[in-house]
Amino acid sequence: MEGFEGRVALITGGARGQGRSHAVALAERGADIVLCDRCEDSPAVNYPLATAADLDETAELVRATGRRCLTAKADTADRGAMDALVAEAESEFGRIDIAVANAGVSVAAPVQSLTQEQWSEAIGSNLTGVFNTVGAVAPGMIWRGYGRIVTISSMLGRAGNTNMAAYGASKWGVIGLTKSAALDLAPHGITVNAIAPGNISTPMIHNDALYRMMRPDLEAPGADDVEPVFRSLHAQPVAWLDAFEITRVVLFFAAEGSAHISGTVLPVDAGNAARVTG
Ligand SMILES: NC(=O)c1ccc[n+]([C@@H]2O[C@H](COP(=O)([O-])OP(=O)(O)OC[C@H]3O[C@@H](n4cnc5c(N)ncnc54)[C@H](O)[C@@H]3O)[C@@H](O)[C@H]2O)c1
Repeated sequence: MEGFEGRVALITGGARGQGRSHAVALAERGADIVLCDRCEDSPAVNYPLATAADLDETAELVRATGRRCLTAKADTADRGAMDALVAEAESEFGRIDIAVANAGVSVAAPVQSLTQEQWSEAIGSNLTGVFNTVGAVAPGMIWRGYGRIVTISSMLGRAGNTNMAAYGASKWGVIGLTKSAALDLAPHGITVNAIAPGNISTPMIHNDALYRMMRPDLEAPGADDVEPVFRSLHAQPVAWLDAFEITRVVLFFAAEGSAHISGTVLPVDAGNAARVTG
């Protein structure tokens, strides 16, 4: 795998989870890092989101590799905030070469009881947030004639599931956005690819609210109780994957040598991709 010396990478939702893994791995390979996270809970999301302390911790991990790190408390659903962050990063580091539109939330409820607030949160963070990230970085990338954009969809961006109307709609939308953006940006040396993760071991899936939804028969379900349920969502007999399995693909798409791979969706979902078309 080639290095990223001299490159600058923006990672949204970088305070913890998969975003932190991508940030540290890109820094270890030479990239300077720009991170944003909302660092605030949402009334529409029933598990805790990241904190300012989480974002600081990722920044420390990046700086420990010897690379520079710029952080911002910014909500990707806010286009003005994303434009301001990109302007600050370009002024400080001179460029953004790589953007990983990773920030997202999980909102789970049956469609008949899904509230407008839950719907707007899922579409705002997971779809509009990706659009805002792509829109904010694209002008500078076009000007420099170089860019690697990676979006994060989901295995629920290729299939439906109970309780997942809003989340699934947002993640199917990310794939449509990714493919269209890949075509718009193709003449400019910019690639746009999506990753469709399966169950990844982060706070998004390891939280009481989701555990209780998966095991309503138990009063206080733990990880062992939900393990078989998560395992059934994959084809291979594994319940959840480490975040670095997604990072490996981020590094692949972000590499200079991946110049002619664009508009693709790469599932990392323990074989579930074999069950769906596309
Ligand atoms: N964990 C899984 O099983 C799984 C599966 C498929 C796809 N994904 C996707 O992977 C991505 C990363 O999730 P994760 O697993 O690391 O979960 P996570 O909850 O640990 O991390 C998501 C981060 O995004 C931040 N965030 C949420 N909304 C934001 C917004 N509007 N603006 C800025 N920051 C925001 C959160 O504060 C958090 O730090 C998400 O897009 C998620 O939908 C996760």
